[in-house]
Amino acid sequence: MGLPYRVFGKPMLRLIDSEKAHSISVAALTNFGQNSIGRRVLESLYQAPELQTKVFGMDFNHPLGLAAGFDKKAQALSAWPCLGFSWMEYGGITRYPQDGNPKPRMFRANKENALINRMGFNNPGALAVRDSLVERKSKGLWPNNPIAANIGRSKKVSNDDAPADYSATLDILWDYSDLFVLNISSPNTPGLRELQEEDHLSKVLDACNIIRDRKHDFKPVLLKFSPDMEDDVLLKSVEIAISSGVNGFVATNTTVSRYTPKNSQSRSVFAQKGGLSGRPLKARSLEVVNLLYEYTDSKIPIVGVGGIDSVDSAWDMINSGASLIQLYSALVFQGPSITSHIIKGLNKKVKQNNFSSIQEAVGYYHK
Ligand SMILES: Cc1cc2nc3c(=O)[nH]c(=O)nc-3n(C[C@H](O)[C@H](O)[C@H](O)COP(=O)(O)O)c2cc1C
Repeated sequence: MGLPYRVFGKPMLRLIDSEKAHSISVAALTNFGQNSIGRRVLESLYQAPELQTKVFGMDFNHPLGLAAGFDKKAQALSAWPCLGFSWMEYGGITRYPQDGNPKPRMFRANKENALINRMGFNNPGALAVRDSLVERKSKGLWPNNPIAANIGRSKKVSNDDAPADYSATLDILWDYSDLFVLNISSPNTPGLRELQEEDHLSKVLDACNIIRDRKHDFKPVLLKFSPDMEDDVLLKSVEIAISSGVNGFVATNTTVSRYTPKNSQSRSVFAQKGGLSGRPLKARSLEVVNLLYEYTDSKIPIVGVGGIDSVDSAWDMINSGASLIQLYSALVFQGPSITSHIIKGLNKKVKQNNFSSIQEAVGYYHK
């Protein structure tokens, strides 16, 4: 953990409500990201070394990106690379603006290094986000790093109308993202996870394919899975996704499953409804990544996310089959120096194993 964050940031942020702390952090990063001095300050504190990789035909400085949900409105895009992330996923964005669930809706279980959230896709809607991204580009504030957009279903739209909802957002944001993640796995929009099932899924993907076919450029579309699916249901979704031209998978979203923590603060947080993320999610996310890698015979790139908070957990995820990785909760519990710490450690591991690149480590457990 970096000294400035440990001494000033973490104690202050721990005293206040989780969502307020989050908003303060994103607002500060938005400001820092908007001018070159601010960016240089962040870089001098948090810049990560390189560990080049190529996925989806795109170059990444290293495999670690910011997971969806942190920068919901794509406000701080210029700041994330300065915190050492090689790529970032903004959103979830829905076709229509929505407030999300009533507050409080985000909780920290400190002893478990876990968060529970039931945000419910609070976001200004696809058109407003696009307007802000148009403005960002015109001001020369578009980062050089790959950017992904996370697309969710609007709450007021039924699953029967989900194909039109997802595909409209894909169309609206097409020029403002390098890759797209269809989020059919958030536990906080009623019925959303049913979209992972056969019938609904193929209709959503068909509608997105109509939009993709109309565009002149290729952009990868990924599907983000829940950790709570039975393996056989998950693999059925994988089959449909592959036959519908999905280019990659993100594993996983947050879980609704719980255990009983020993610590009483954590126990009361775990009683909250919503999706659990952070350290307790790691085992199942790894399992899903291993399953996907084996089932797809390593042919489809996987983004591993869930409980990555150390060099070893990042290395495990990559060795299990993830070409790219992401984190969210570890940024809350350990602060921004977690990125450079992980990438320095991965560099060492690549050398210790005599690999020529990090790409050689992808799926190594299966070889
Ligand atoms: C407050 C919060 C909001 C999130 N919002 C989204 C979202 O909008 N879309 C999405 O696909 N995942 C969302 N996620 C899930 C994360 O992207 C990630 O999959 C999950 O937190 C596991 O990673 P972690 O253990 O590193 O936090 C959210 C997570 C949190 C904690």
